Amino acid sequence: MRTKNNNELRLTNVGETVTLVGWCNKKRDLGGLVFLDLRDRYGITQLVIEPHNKNYAKALEVKNEYVLKATGKVVERSNKNPNLPTGDIEVLVDDLVILNTAENPPLLIQDQTDALEEVRMRYRYLDLRRPVMQKNIIMRHKVAMSIRNYLDALDFIEVETPLLGKSTPEGARDFLVPSRVYPGSFYALPQSPQMYKQLLMIAGLEKYYQLVKCFRDEDLRADRQLEFTQVDIEMSFIDEEDIQEVVEGMLKRVWKDTLNIDIPTPFPRITYHEAMNKYGTDKPDTRFELFLQDISCWAKGLNFPVFDSALNKGGVVKAIVVPFGAEKYSRKEIDRLTEIAKKYHASGLAWLKVGENGLSGSFVKYINEENSQKLSNQLSLKNHDLVLVVADSWENANFALGALRLQVAKEMNLIDQKQFNFLWVVDWPLFEYSEEEKRYVAAHHPFTSPKDDQVYLMLTAPEKVLAKAYDVVLNGYELGGGSIRIHNQEIQNRMFKAIGMLDEEIEQQFSFFTDALKYGTPPHGGIALGFDRIAMLLTYNTSLREVIAFPKAASARCLMSDAPSRVSERQLKELGIKIDE
Ligand code: AMO
Repeated sequence: MRTKNNNELRLTNVGETVTLVGWCNKKRDLGGLVFLDLRDRYGITQLVIEPHNKNYAKALEVKNEYVLKATGKVVERSNKNPNLPTGDIEVLVDDLVILNTAENPPLLIQDQTDALEEVRMRYRYLDLRRPVMQKNIIMRHKVAMSIRNYLDALDFIEVETPLLGKSTPEGARDFLVPSRVYPGSFYALPQSPQMYKQLLMIAGLEKYYQLVKCFRDEDLRADRQLEFTQVDIEMSFIDEEDIQEVVEGMLKRVWKDTLNIDIPTPFPRITYHEAMNKYGTDKPDTRFELFLQDISCWAKGLNFPVFDSALNKGGVVKAIVVPFGAEKYSRKEIDRLTEIAKKYHASGLAWLKVGENGLSGSFVKYINEENSQKLSNQLSLKNHDLVLVVADSWENANFALGALRLQVAKEMNLIDQKQFNFLWVVDWPLFEYSEEEKRYVAAHHPFTSPKDDQVYLMLTAPEKVLAKAYDVVLNGYELGGGSIRIHNQEIQNRMFKAIGMLDEEIEQQFSFFTDALKYGTPPHGGIALGFDRIAMLLTYNTSLREVIAFPKAASARCLMSDAPSRVSERQLKELGIKIDE
């Protein structure tokens, strides 16, 4: 229908006759001339309709979001708009067609919106008309193209794996799909294609990838959706470094293709233990320092009962130093931080401020001049510093200070929002103890290989075993996780046993897989990256909902279609299902 798009015309086009299409973004009736801003996916062009034009009355009828087709001559504007790429010209309309009318939209079609989340989700097709949302969705497409081109050039092939399958244990709850043919039996939607991609390695495909939908029935968060997309990768005859190199190259290419940013590779590597110890989290945001520091030795000499009690139980006293925090955080503000620390499992929060006249704070009466000097030396304290201290188990102290570290960095504006800091977290424990289930569970998933020299500890000292696992982290987000897999049937069975599975359960749930391992399984490994998270971070967003066309709201509902919803009695009957109200 059109000869040009709405972001194309410049001064060099003056004099041409063009046909444009799009939506009316704005109408101005200046009691003589009518101006219409015409918007399409590419941009905005100003149309002018003069009073003597045959379409003048029609132009007056046009409202926001009417769909229009206009033909006319490109002319130079007297009143140029430097904020618009087409701002030097306008199109003097000769012919105007209203292709469709529109009701008054419930939200403004512009980048800045104060529309409530509910309204944006309910009318998602209008929300997606906003240029910023179109940019996000187009970015997603560009990331997919970039990834596919990169992996294709490295000989990877994309293979689709079933959505209706058997449950793969990734640690979340499954979405189940009832079988009509076998009443009482269910398919599970994949939490990931983990077993299938390993079977593809057994099948000899050597290099697999897939942009694949995964489903996990877990509580939604800003960076978690019920259905999300993974860049899923698996390779044969490789070790950890090979996978990491492929992923570094891929992310480098994506950042170059989309933002024209050169990200340095290789990414820094840090062990899981160091990440927890220094940053209090397994996904450190390394754009700022504020490291967790162990001051247990110093704390021992104080005779402060709170510290003594934690230390006597085998715990630690750890601190973070907030530069210029002394003025920024009043007593009341520190109370607020204390609440956050408690939410993150700390029993309390002690604090000190460094001023002209030395230290002040919640436990200053236990600190003599010598101890004050020692602390100052250990933490390199400066005037105006705020020291936040947690005495607890190593895990709780890390967890709480890790959360405070992030909170304070945000509040003190210590984070450069334009920076991209990638890193690998390596040497994860193979197991973690589940208090809830009173047993060891796989820390990653039960197909992850232990380090070669620790296989013998799997059943006797599981807490000591490290895994050949790695996570790629960006700005405090877990971007992806993967591992070298177990390719030996005996070790795989030992793994299932270590997490408390009985022989019958292994046989019933995984025999097809452990059988396959017998037929010449190559050494293999892989990784999956959160595709939505990549798109979210590339567009400087903090919610996945900004980069998914039709996401679920925080309530786990699709507010547009109102899914999930009741189904008819007939459908239930066919599936042999009765609802227990
Ligand atoms: P994992 O469970 O770590 O690994 O998932 C890989 C990546 O997927 C993203 N992700 C999510 N994104 C949005 N919403 C969710 N609910 C969600 N859950 C996970 C994260 C995460 O890092 N099969 C293994 C991979 C492997 O071992 O190869 C797996 O799925 O970015």
